[in-house]
Amino acid sequence: MSKRIYVLNGPNLNLLGTRQPEVYGHETLDDVHKRLLSRAVELGFGIVFFQSNHEGEIIDKIHEARGQADGIIINPAAYSHTSVAILDALNTFEKPVIEVHISNIHKREAFRHHSFVSARAEGVIAGLGTLGYVLALEYFANAG
Ligand code: DQA
Repeated sequence: MSKRIYVLNGPNLNLLGTRQPEVYGHETLDDVHKRLLSRAVELGFGIVFFQSNHEGEIIDKIHEARGQADGIIINPAAYSHTSVAILDALNTFEKPVIEVHISNIHKREAFRHHSFVSARAEGVIAGLGTLGYVLALEYFANAG
């Protein structure tokens, strides 16, 4: 059966491509979505993309994913380091969660080293650039 994966991106990731390209690269979020979509088509997966700069909207989308999605790929961006509320929302979701960070948060400032979401995620991909999103999708292709 084909899987439906929610791909959720947090604050400031709408500016990908122009936001600190030395850290996050030159690809836009739209480029990332296109790359994911082409792989999803090959896999026969459905993808729902969502980006928001607002914590509550991300939580609402996680609630929507309950009963709808077979998995969540999430880059909570700065909310990774602050949001117990997003962690709590993910804890209501019963399927796998993969956390993605474009940069290697462990090589950066100390306040980025801890992510609340990691306590819930099946896996965490950090520092592999936007390829991390595609690798997260491959996880769902390989997971039973
Ligand atoms: C990020 C890392 C976070 O620390 C930062 O706040 C972001 C993006 C990443 O993808 O590398 O906005 O999640």
